[in-house]
Amino acid sequence: MDKLIIKGGKKLKGRVDISGAKNAALPILAATLLTDERCIVKNVPMLTDITTMIKILGELGKSVKRVGSTLVVKTQDKSRCVAPYELVSTMRGSICVLGPLVGKRKKAKVSFPGGCVIGPRPIDLHLKGLRDLGIGINVKGGYIIGNGKEIKGTRIYLGGHFGSSVLATANVLMASVLAKGKTVIENAACEPEIADLVRFLKKMGAKIHGAGSPRLEISGVRYLKGCTHALIPDRIEAGTYMLATAITKGDVYLRGGQFDNLLALIDKMREAGVSIEKKGKGIRVRHVKGIKPIDVTTLPYPGFPTDLQAQMMALMAITQGISVITEKIYPERFIHISELNRMGARIVLEGPNAIIKGVEHLSGAPVMASDLRASASLVLAGLVAKGTTEISRIYHLDRGYENLEIKLQKIGADIKRVKE
Ligand code: EPU
Repeated sequence: MDKLIIKGGKKLKGRVDISGAKNAALPILAATLLTDERCIVKNVPMLTDITTMIKILGELGKSVKRVGSTLVVKTQDKSRCVAPYELVSTMRGSICVLGPLVGKRKKAKVSFPGGCVIGPRPIDLHLKGLRDLGIGINVKGGYIIGNGKEIKGTRIYLGGHFGSSVLATANVLMASVLAKGKTVIENAACEPEIADLVRFLKKMGAKIHGAGSPRLEISGVRYLKGCTHALIPDRIEAGTYMLATAITKGDVYLRGGQFDNLLALIDKMREAGVSIEKKGKGIRVRHVKGIKPIDVTTLPYPGFPTDLQAQMMALMAITQGISVITEKIYPERFIHISELNRMGARIVLEGPNAIIKGVEHLSGAPVMASDLRASASLVLAGLVAKGTTEISRIYHLDRGYENLEIKLQKIGADIKRVKE
């Protein structure tokens, strides 16, 4: 297993190129199941989560060829309909093959994804929405068995305890595009990744209105064709580099960073005193003066993303004063606190609120990555800590950050990957 060794204290300076969005790639690759024709998806990041999705598509009779950052997806066997436990259990995002599979092939057998280190992640909304469309859903032997012989458009309310759901929206949307009649999804997720999925589906010939809004209207069509699509840049990767720049008091230009998809983060970073400008096809982030403590609450888009909560916490950990971070999407997504505290941070948890008393400096330590975004927060902490930080179990980072240490080295970080 690899680990990362970071010597803290270097200011990040220069330019980072933002990769394609992982969380747009996963549902869009799943959407290729809606046609037997060839699809070309461009700007796909090289990540283990993408490799997992390619393997699942392989199990479902697709051949996927990678040329650089372009994937060419073709159909070889359209009778396959089982997404096995061995693959689905390694990545929650693989649940998004259920909707397109049952929508197009009329039957699906997809392993139940199970628990997750960031807290319980139920799929009740996915199953409710699919049932509302007339899809027969049974759970047997750890698998969801879907029967899509009579899919009919209807009006579906898709909100749960924590508001909208990104992948439930993706699943229900993909199951409805080939349905008879009109479907309306109320309380649909508004995330840019869902809007990108809608763009892809429309290129395939789907009829959808309301992308990016909480109401999606879908008029079912009989057939969808292959298409070519370039993924949007990854807003969470961009946000992570923005916070890395602020924490190291740096000055970095994020080429491809989409300002308009990051407004909640930008608002909070500006409140904290960081200079952020939209510039050409990217974003310039500059540390100009002392950073102030802030309060942040995570919410569904356009609110502050839960996927940047841990990285923001690393910044607040070295910001004088008291900050409060409230997690409203995954109330248990706080595993990074103990590791940040091991580096000298002073953070306590009270229910879904993390109370952060800013310290003057963090000190390097051996720490362990636990999930993707928690790991990113440890990298940020390592970049600013005094001394050396060793992060083990970095396979979590490889799931979601393309060439992380190479990109960081290019902007001046002292970081290297070594074999454990
Ligand atoms: N929820 C339910 N029932 C459901 C589905 C979700 O109660 O059937 C709850 C969840 O437990 C959570 C909330 O609704 O409290 C929102 O979860 P959501 O369904 O939106 O999450 P997801 O679609 O499974 C995607 C991203 C996550 C990201 C969340 C929230 C992908 C592949 N994953 O997950 O990304 O945190 O949306 O924005 O798109 C990551 O990239 O590190 C990551 C975890």
